[in-house]
Amino acid sequence: MDRISIVGGSRLEGTLAISGAKNATLPLMIASLLTSERLTLKNVPNLADVITLGRILRNHGVDLAVDGKRADPSPYQGETFHLTAREIVDTTAPYEMVNRMRASFWVLGPLLARCGEARVSMPGGCAIGTRPVDLHLMGLKTLGAEIDIDGGYVVARARKGLHGARVIFPKVSVGATHAVLMTAALIKGETVIENAAREPEIGDVAECLVKMGARIEGIGTSTLRIQGTDRLEGAVHTVLPDRIETGTYAFAVAAAGGDVELRGARKGLLETALTTLERIGVAIAETPAGVRVTRNGGALEPITIETQPFPGFPTDLQAQLMALMTKANGTSVIRETIFENRFMHVQELVRLGADIQLQGDTAVIKGVKSLRGAQVMATDLRASVSLVIAGLMAEGKTTINRVYHLDRGFERLEQKLSGCGASIERLVSG
Ligand code: EPU
Repeated sequence: MDRISIVGGSRLEGTLAISGAKNATLPLMIASLLTSERLTLKNVPNLADVITLGRILRNHGVDLAVDGKRADPSPYQGETFHLTAREIVDTTAPYEMVNRMRASFWVLGPLLARCGEARVSMPGGCAIGTRPVDLHLMGLKTLGAEIDIDGGYVVARARKGLHGARVIFPKVSVGATHAVLMTAALIKGETVIENAAREPEIGDVAECLVKMGARIEGIGTSTLRIQGTDRLEGAVHTVLPDRIETGTYAFAVAAAGGDVELRGARKGLLETALTTLERIGVAIAETPAGVRVTRNGGALEPITIETQPFPGFPTDLQAQLMALMTKANGTSVIRETIFENRFMHVQELVRLGADIQLQGDTAVIKGVKSLRGAQVMATDLRASVSLVIAGLMAEGKTTINRVYHLDRGFERLEQKLSGCGASIERLVSG
């Protein structure tokens, strides 16, 4: 297994390209199941999760061709995927595939809408909480699906066809919103989703569905009104920039100190996170090419914050913020309200010398003068990258084991950071 080695203490200077968003790419790829025509996605990031989902979709009969292979990675352009699901050859998504990535469960609704049946293994994914799928199933049942659980699989059927309906989510869920939105696009009639997630990746998928022929009102709000159709068309869509990657590198610059322009980043996608950085003492400026992040040696002010669905502070940046606050000038309090077990990074940060106490869903972080490099273990995607941030701040060498978690969601992380002056390298296992 590969490891990443970091020697802390270097400032970050220069420019760093932001890739297309993982969490938009995955549902957009799944949307290809809704049409027999070609869906072209541009700005697709080269990530392990994208490759895994490609394999799962091929198993259903999707033809996936990739062009835009980059000869010159700078300025960075993502890949272009052409996905064509002319015929669905298999409506089962097996355990061995789905257990590697939770988002692959989201094929359930589109397969059901297209074929009238689907059999999808209950999901796996990052170990950050119990992560049930009850809201997905409730949504699909409201649209007329019959659902059984059989041998660890969700078996969904629509003998009498699906129908538009009013789906009211008792809790905000990104995945369940994607599921109902994509399914409703391929049903004749109107579906209204209330208490829909407002994450920008939902809006990106909705805009692609509009290009494919659905009519959708309320994009970006918590009420989505979808006029579906029984036949969706092909489309060409560019994946929006990754706001979590943007936030992660903004926190990295804050941690190491320096001045970096995040090219291709869109400030409006992560206002809360960037405002939080400003409160901490980091300068943020919008530039014609993206977002500029500057910290020139000033103290990091402590902060009290809780994670919330969009537009609140994202749970996917909680670990990165915590890493930064380990060296703040005082005590910070971070409450995790989305996932009950998303503190796997705490014990690893403590190995580097951080002072963190966990009290239920809340972490109390007392800023320390310095962190010291050590061997640490990546546990899930965002926890792993918080260790990279801590490594940039620590004295001496930090070695991160099990970096395959990082490869799920961060493209060319070592190159992007070393291009800005970080001392970071991948130790490839023989
Ligand atoms: N939930 C339920 N029932 C459901 C679905 C969700 O109770 O049927 C609960 C979850 O257990 C959680 C909360 O609702 O407590 C929110 O979960 P949500 O469904 O919004 O999360 P998700 O769709 O599984 C996506 C992202 C996550 C991100 C969350 C929250 C993708 C592929 N995944 O997950 O991203 O943390 O939304 O914003 O979009 C990551 O990229 O590292 C990652 C984990």
